[in-house]
Amino acid sequence: MHVPVLLNKAIELLDPKPGEFFIDGTFGNGGHAAAIVEKIFPGGKLLGIDWDKKVIANGKNVILVNDNYKNIPMILKEKKLGKADGLLLDLGMSSDQLESAGWRTGRGFSFKKDEPLDMRYGDDSVTAAEVVNTFGEDALVEIFKKYGEERYARRIAEKIVEQRKKSRIITTFQLSRIVEDVYRHRSGRSYSERPPYAAEPSGCRLGRSRIHPATKIFQALRIYVNNELENLDKILDALPLVLKQEGRAVVISFHSLEDRIVKNKFKEMSAQNILKILTKKPVTPDDVEVAANPRSRSAKLRAAQLL
Ligand SMILES: C[S@@+](CC[C@H](N)C(=O)[O-])C[C@H]1O[C@@H](n2cnc3c(N)ncnc32)[C@H](O)[C@@H]1O
Repeated sequence: MHVPVLLNKAIELLDPKPGEFFIDGTFGNGGHAAAIVEKIFPGGKLLGIDWDKKVIANGKNVILVNDNYKNIPMILKEKKLGKADGLLLDLGMSSDQLESAGWRTGRGFSFKKDEPLDMRYGDDSVTAAEVVNTFGEDALVEIFKKYGEERYARRIAEKIVEQRKKSRIITTFQLSRIVEDVYRHRSGRSYSERPPYAAEPSGCRLGRSRIHPATKIFQALRIYVNNELENLDKILDALPLVLKQEGRAVVISFHSLEDRIVKNKFKEMSAQNILKILTKKPVTPDDVEVAANPRSRSAKLRAAQLL
């Protein structure tokens, strides 16, 4: 079950009030949305968006749309909803998607489980298997470096190209084995026993502080496949089309590439007097939240208010 991250802080900064209109651009299991609904009802309205069709089929009592959040301005127009008082984006994947528990099975988000290499939230983009099996070596190196900051990007791409000549790489375990092999040769360490790896690509750790070698490659592929950074960039640029004057935006990100985009975009827009930054420093979860919900470990929350 997905536990909403930084819930109290997100609600405090979004400051939802009875009768207001809010957008949750990454609805997921509706944990954050339920807390917003509690504050805006009666009389309020919540628009929930998720790229995952199955997520939308599960929602009740709110307007739910299966789409990419980058299309929110278009959705608002189509549904004649007008601008909103608040927007929440809780980025990345939910625990259910990661663990493939229950209704959501086998998208290959985690190297902990042997699943098809898919990694899409929606079904309208290229799959991770297509990337790994058809992209040239240089293109793979670029993806691994740009979105995973992976130091052995070239060696891993070479190995992938070598391996796929023998047989297509179609499962998470096939891919993570290739990465483990490269790391084993480079560092002399063994990564072969599995599990127990920590659960999440956003923070899989071996022992005290070592991140599992496949973490960055899986992150890179997921970001590329779902165009994650471009989606975020687009929706932040579109904030004046989405929010009313004094409308609040809260973004929770889970890795430095996303957080950098939010930080820089808020700074840029603040310099242009488009918005006011509400969080001088990013808000992070305290030790109690991290202990109760390890997924929250890498979360950073930033908020801004439209001028
Ligand atoms: C971390 S979960 C959100 C969890 C939610 N806040 C809760 O409390 O249950 C992120 C969700 O965003 C969705 N998602 C990721 N990228 C998206 C995008 N570009 N547009 C819409 N939804 C997206 C995923 O399918 C996933 O369900």
